[in-house]
Amino acid sequence: MKLLLTGGAGYIGSHTCIELLNLDIDVVVIDNLSNSSYHSLERVQSITDKNITFIEGDVRDKELLRSIFRQGDIDGVIHFAGLKAVGESNEIPLQYYDNNLNSTITLLQIMEEYDCRNFIFSSSATVYGNPEKLPITEDFPLSVTNPYGRTKLMNEDILRDFYKVKNNWNIVLLRYFNPVGAHPSGLIGEDPNGIPNNLLPYITQVAVGKLGKLNIFGDDYDTPDGTGIRDYIHVVDLAKGHAAALQKLKIGSGLNIFNLGTGRGYSVLEMVDTFSKVNNLKIDYQIVSRREGDIASCYADPSKANKELNWKAIYGLEDICRDAWNWQSNNPNGYKKTR
Ligand SMILES: NC(=O)c1ccc[n+]([C@@H]2O[C@H](COP(=O)([O-])OP(=O)(O)OC[C@H]3O[C@@H](n4cnc5c(N)ncnc54)[C@H](O)[C@@H]3O)[C@@H](O)[C@H]2O)c1
Repeated sequence: MKLLLTGGAGYIGSHTCIELLNLDIDVVVIDNLSNSSYHSLERVQSITDKNITFIEGDVRDKELLRSIFRQGDIDGVIHFAGLKAVGESNEIPLQYYDNNLNSTITLLQIMEEYDCRNFIFSSSATVYGNPEKLPITEDFPLSVTNPYGRTKLMNEDILRDFYKVKNNWNIVLLRYFNPVGAHPSGLIGEDPNGIPNNLLPYITQVAVGKLGKLNIFGDDYDTPDGTGIRDYIHVVDLAKGHAAALQKLKIGSGLNIFNLGTGRGYSVLEMVDTFSKVNNLKIDYQIVSRREGDIASCYADPSKANKELNWKAIYGLEDICRDAWNWQSNNPNGYKKTR
């Protein structure tokens, strides 16, 4: 089997490359490196001792896509490529709509030309908005509050509309909860540009001395300790979820949606405490006001993926904290400079 991974040099894509290569799947990556480094793929190749075909370029480039499909035998596409920062999406919405929607539309058009009908899409728990109850199942109502989230929901809608008329396709929408951690080798991990938007990279950058203090946005939520609760999923578990989703592609046509989460929520303070204990480090933090758009609690009901994909997240919060620190402490400047 040969798969094309768009955005495969990025955080989740690079971890997924490892799982696929370990299953002897041939991997072709297209990435414009707008938020990643080719070093991630070099390291994936050294971890697995297998080769990746890498094409540097934009998924919206039709001719480039045609040249990839023309070379042949692409059995399916996992579409990771996209811009993903909620705050930034409020500032440059047109770039988010252009990048995140046109990349999907272009891919689907070219895949049709080459009769490639297997498509896995990186969606997000953000499409559930502020859920009325917990845990969240796949049939919950959908709503979004920012341009990034809207691109995810619009992509899902595009794929649902497309499938209505192309029901010989096989489409899987994977709704990720909060991906965190790093490969246990410490060779690949999350390498955000600028100030991190997410909690754990922020904590690791405080720990490594790049940032002074962690800001905790609100301790007056309706949760046991007042801080927000999220479903943190180890990126290796998430990557394995993609390998598991390939089973759905083998069965025949369909459009299937799965939550990829652990089913367990942890608060910001629980994350800070666990990180400090596991790594024997002190994290300075201060409580600041709530961040606009944040919700109190969000965690998945992953039982559909557990049953239908025979997949379950196995790593816990301690593994997540240990592996995230292993990556950050060995690569204080991410892929730019290593010790
Ligand atoms: N990390 C999260 O918290 C999270 C949560 C839910 C969903 N997702 C989604 O999962 C996917 C992967 O996320 P990630 O965390 O690995 O992000 P990432 O930024 O590390 O990876 C995305 C990759 O896509 C590339 N890219 C972006 N636009 C491109 C284009 N037009 N052409 C070619 N390459 C392009 C970037 O260079 C990057 O390597 C994204 O679609 C993201 O929205 C991520």
